[in-house]
Amino acid sequence: MKTLVLYDSVFGNTEKIAQAIAETLAAPVAPVSQAGLEQLSGLEILVVGSPTRSFRPTEAMARFLSLLGKDQLRGVNVAAFDTRIWLDTINSKPLRFIVDKGGYAASAIAKTLKAKGGKLAVPPEGFLVSGEQGPLKDGELERAAAWGQQILAARQQTHA
Ligand SMILES: Cc1cc2nc3c(=O)[nH]c(=O)nc-3n(C[C@H](O)[C@H](O)[C@H](O)COP(=O)(O)O)c2cc1C
Repeated sequence: MKTLVLYDSVFGNTEKIAQAIAETLAAPVAPVSQAGLEQLSGLEILVVGSPTRSFRPTEAMARFLSLLGKDQLRGVNVAAFDTRIWLDTINSKPLRFIVDKGGYAASAIAKTLKAKGGKLAVPPEGFLVSGEQGPLKDGELERAAAWGQQILAARQQTHA
């Protein structure tokens, strides 16, 4: 089963989540800054994650995904995650509202992966950081590992 966990990370939190997911999937993990399109060939599962920055994935991740051909992910089980600020750690009520309603990177990533032919294995997921630069909220690494299990279970169903 060829699997890849591809991520971007500015402060290191998304990298930790990517590693926890990769451990569950027994898969390699690659930062988008060092990734090439050739790494996507013959994949069975592709997991992509990015920090949410201004309601979207990072520019580096968006650029990489835009390079994929229209049908490049045909037959690949795909899953998308992001890290995002834990709303309880934002003191300003108006700002909390804006961040909550603005949208998150994972849904945008999932949309692109589907547009490139991928089959969404599980719904997009967000993992929480306390404050703008982290650290991760307690328990998020465990939740990431459990989300990885869901991806494996979905994949087994499609092979049953
Ligand atoms: C410039 C900037 C914009 C951000 N925009 C959002 C946002 O729109 N929504 C959100 O939930 N968090 C936002 N955050 C918090 C990031 O999601 C957080 O820094 C990120 O999850 C940390 O992941 P990393 O350590 O992998 O970079 C923003 C942070 C920065 C620095």
